[in-house]
Amino acid sequence: MKFIRHTLLAAGCLLGALAPALAQQGDATKGRAKFIAVGCFECHGRSGQGGALNYNAPALVGLPMNAEALAAFVRNPAGDMPPYAAAVLSDADVADVLAFIKSLPGRVDPKTIPLLNQ
Ligand code: HEC
Repeated sequence: MKFIRHTLLAAGCLLGALAPALAQQGDATKGRAKFIAVGCFECHGRSGQGGALNYNAPALVGLPMNAEALAAFVRNPAGDMPPYAAAVLSDADVADVLAFIKSLPGRVDPKTIPLLNQ
C-alpha cells in the first residue's frame, strides 16, 4: 500500500513538473486560429510573410524567439505594433501562436512547385 501511495505521489509530481513544459510547447492549429482572431495576420500576413499594407511589419517566419520572449514582446511591443494584454492573448495563447509561427515554411523555391514548371 505504502509503495503504491509513493508511486502515485511520484507520478503526480512528475506530471506536475511536466504540465507547464507541455503547455509551453503550444498547439500550431490553435495558434493559427488565434493569429487570425486577434489580428496578427492583418500586419504580418496569413503566412507570417510580413507586409507593408497597414504598417511596415516584419516577416515572422524563422522568428528566433522562445515563448517567454514573444510574450514579453507582444505585451510591450516596439514601434507601431499594438500591445496585447494577457486578457486578450494569454501566455498559453502566445505559446500556441509561436508553435504556428514555427510551423510556417517560409518562401518556397518556385522550381519545387510542379504546376509552375509545366
Ligand atoms: C497593426 C499592425 C500589427 C499587428 C496587428 C501585429 N503586429 Fe507584430 N509588428 C508590427 C510592426 C510594425 C512591427 C515592427 C516593430 C518595430 O520594431 O518597429 C512588429 C513586430 C513584431 C515582432 C518582432 C519581429 C522581429 O523580427 O523583431 C513580432 C514577434 C511580432 N510583431 C508578433 C506579432 C504577433 C504575434 C501579433 C499578434 C498577436 C502581432 N505581431 C500583431 C505590426 C503589427
